[in-house]
Amino acid sequence: MSDSNLEQAQADGKYIRTVRSFVKREGRLTRGQAAALERSWPTMGLTHQQGLLDLTQVFGREAPTVLEIGFGMGKSLVAMAAAAPEKNFIGIEVHRPGVGACLMEAETAGLTNLRVYEHDAVEVLRDCIADGALDTVQVFFPDPWHKKRHHKRRLIQPAFVEALRPKLALGGVLHLATDWENYAEHMLEVMSGAANWRNLAEDQGYIPRPSERPLTKFEQRGERLGHGVWDLKFSRIG
Ligand SMILES: C[S@@+](CC[C@H](N)C(=O)[O-])C[C@H]1O[C@@H](n2cnc3c(N)ncnc32)[C@H](O)[C@@H]1O
Repeated sequence: MSDSNLEQAQADGKYIRTVRSFVKREGRLTRGQAAALERSWPTMGLTHQQGLLDLTQVFGREAPTVLEIGFGMGKSLVAMAAAAPEKNFIGIEVHRPGVGACLMEAETAGLTNLRVYEHDAVEVLRDCIADGALDTVQVFFPDPWHKKRHHKRRLIQPAFVEALRPKLALGGVLHLATDWENYAEHMLEVMSGAANWRNLAEDQGYIPRPSERPLTKFEQRGERLGHGVWDLKFSRIG
C-alpha cells in the first residue's frame, strides 16, 4: 500500500476510527483461491462472530497450539503445519486472496491441523482466544510502516504485546521476525521494556534464524536486496 493510497483511504474516512496495522486492499481472488475458499472454508474457516474458541472441539484433540498473525499467502504457515502434525495451527490474515491462497496450499498438503481467520488479529486475540490457550504466537515480517509518522500503525506495540501475553501459556513463546532494521530495533525495545517476558537470546538481543521458520517470499526478496533478517523470541514468565 503506497502512502498516497493510504492517505486517500484516510481522506475517504475509511480507517480513521482506530489506528490499525493494515489497510484492507480489495485484491481480486484468483479462480483457484475462490474455489479453495468455497471447498475448504466450511472445515478450515473460523469467524470472529463465533466468539471464544474451544480448541479441543475445533481440532478434535488436545495439542499445543501455534497462532500466526498476518500469514500473507500462507506459505510458511502451511509448511510449518505440515512439518509439525502433532501441533494445532491457527492463522489470522485480513487479506482475502491470502486466505484463499493459504487454503489452496493447505489442501495440496492435505492438512488437518490448520484453521484460519479472515479478520483483524487484534480483535481475534481479544474476543476468540482463551487465556493460556497458546503455546506459540508468531508474527513474521509484519508490515514495517517505514515512515516515522506511520510508526503508530506497527503491530508490535506495548499495548498489543500486553494484550497478547495472557493468551500464551506460562513459558509460551512469542516469535517475531523482520527484514527492516528499524522495526527490529523497535521490536526489541518494546519487548525488552514489557514486563513478564524473558528474552531467549543469550545476549538479550536477536536470536540466530531458527530452523523451524521457513523462508518466506518477503525474506527471499529481502535477501536479494541485501537486507538482513532479525528474529526475536521471548517467553512468557508471568
Ligand atoms: C508484509 S506481510 C507479510 C506476510 C507473511 N507473514 C510473509 O512473511 O510473507 C504482512 C501481512 O500482515 C497482514 N496484517 C497486518 N495487520 C494485520 C492484522 N491486524 N490482522 C491480521 N493480519 C494483518 C497484512 O494483510 C499482510 O498480509
